Amino acid sequence: MIGTGYVGLVSGVCFADIGNQVICVDKDKNKIDNLNSGISPIYEPGLDELIKKNFVAKRLSFTTDINRAISTSDIIFICVGTPTRKGSIQVDLSFVYKCTKEILKYSKRKKIIVTKSTVPVGTGDEIEKILKKKKKLFTVISNPEFLREGEAIRDFRYPDRIVIGSNEQKAFNIMRKLYAPLINKGSKFFTVTRRGSELIKYASNAFLATKITFINELANLCEKCGVNIEDISLGMGSDSRIGGRFLRAGPAYGGSCFPKDTKGLVSVADKYKINLSVIKSVIKSNQERVSLLTQRIHKILGSNIRNKKISFLGVTFKPNTDDMRDSTSLKMIPYLCKKGAKVNYYDPSGEKKEFRKIKNCNYKNNIKSNCYGTDLVVLLTEWDEFKSIDFKRIVKNNKFKVYDLRNLYSAEDMKRNKVKYYSVGRPNTN
Ligand SMILES: NC(=O)c1ccc[n+]([C@@H]2O[C@H](COP(=O)([O-])OP(=O)(O)OC[C@H]3O[C@@H](n4cnc5c(N)ncnc54)[C@H](O)[C@@H]3O)[C@@H](O)[C@H]2O)c1
Repeated sequence: MIGTGYVGLVSGVCFADIGNQVICVDKDKNKIDNLNSGISPIYEPGLDELIKKNFVAKRLSFTTDINRAISTSDIIFICVGTPTRKGSIQVDLSFVYKCTKEILKYSKRKKIIVTKSTVPVGTGDEIEKILKKKKKLFTVISNPEFLREGEAIRDFRYPDRIVIGSNEQKAFNIMRKLYAPLINKGSKFFTVTRRGSELIKYASNAFLATKITFINELANLCEKCGVNIEDISLGMGSDSRIGGRFLRAGPAYGGSCFPKDTKGLVSVADKYKINLSVIKSVIKSNQERVSLLTQRIHKILGSNIRNKKISFLGVTFKPNTDDMRDSTSLKMIPYLCKKGAKVNYYDPSGEKKEFRKIKNCNYKNNIKSNCYGTDLVVLLTEWDEFKSIDFKRIVKNNKFKVYDLRNLYSAEDMKRNKVKYYSVGRPNTN
């Protein structure tokens, strides 16, 4: 596995756990040193135990020595990052191409190269071009990853589908053998052309981002017309053609995939002179949602928020991960601090380096000290430990308010308890 991040580490550990000999290689020495001392560089439930188990069983090793990793492996998974290129919407494929060049350099016998990184349609062809000097040695396959952070191990073990893209039949047989333990438990094994496989990943993420954005926009309408968005989600989602998942209103979508992959898809379509107008609107709507949420905070607290105390519960883009990439909090917190608010935050995955240099922003290491004496609690991430808080008992400020961006609480209960409560897409009960 080249790249020991959220995808490479989880996949590597899980492949080892189903009996393979796995070498995880990363250029980040610190990460590898930590892994060799039994410390996981990421927060993912169940991962630490699985790392230890397979490390001790000698099925799993960690190294920075890419030469050794490549020369001793039969199947090489490319799991490096594919971020958005700075100042554009294009995908930065430099990490993918750099490790392809290393594969070319260190390979002396036949290798199967599998891209697990999310890459634009046609990237497999480009990888083949880089490898053409020794082309007889390589078979290049696409096998996009669909795991969700926070549930990654379960998703690896029980994927809805395993997508394999190749133009060669023999590649499907090799991959079917590798994934046999999961296929035997009922996971769908779907074979397609390499370009098709690359596009399936982008299309899936863009569609999910569209569902979220759709319901978020409807939530805005619900707030104005006195309807509860949850009734809409349930009423719509019960239709099997629509499906209820990814239809829960909340903050803007974030994370390491949707924001970059929606942009990446549009940039590829632009190259082919195809106007993906729906996805362009999704991107715009999602960006605007962040300002909409901060405007709502102004409405709740009044236009002048200087010296107001605001306490965030959760700053990661979703629970059970420490990933901060493109989280809504990265825009909301600096904005509120700039306006003079005093912001505290608590997240079960710990303090975040992203907020260390921000004036007026402080990390608290538990719910109680985070919320004590605050003017506004902003519930941003639905970690389990935020689901049954007795706000009155912990805040101890008569005039405090709660802005629940995940609709975790009943508005009626809050009213009964005399807590001023605001949520997403539900009628105002205050
Ligand atoms: N994070 C997710 O939930 C998720 C889910 C599905 C797909 N993906 C895709 O998987 C890919 C990886 O995502 P991630 O979140 O794991 O990224 P990440 O940033 O967490 O990890 C990437 C790792 O690759 C390493 N790396 C980069 N270049 C290298 C090289 N030449 N040699 C060795 N190591 C190198 C980096 O040091 C880093 O540790 C991306 O394309 C992403 O879109 C991510």
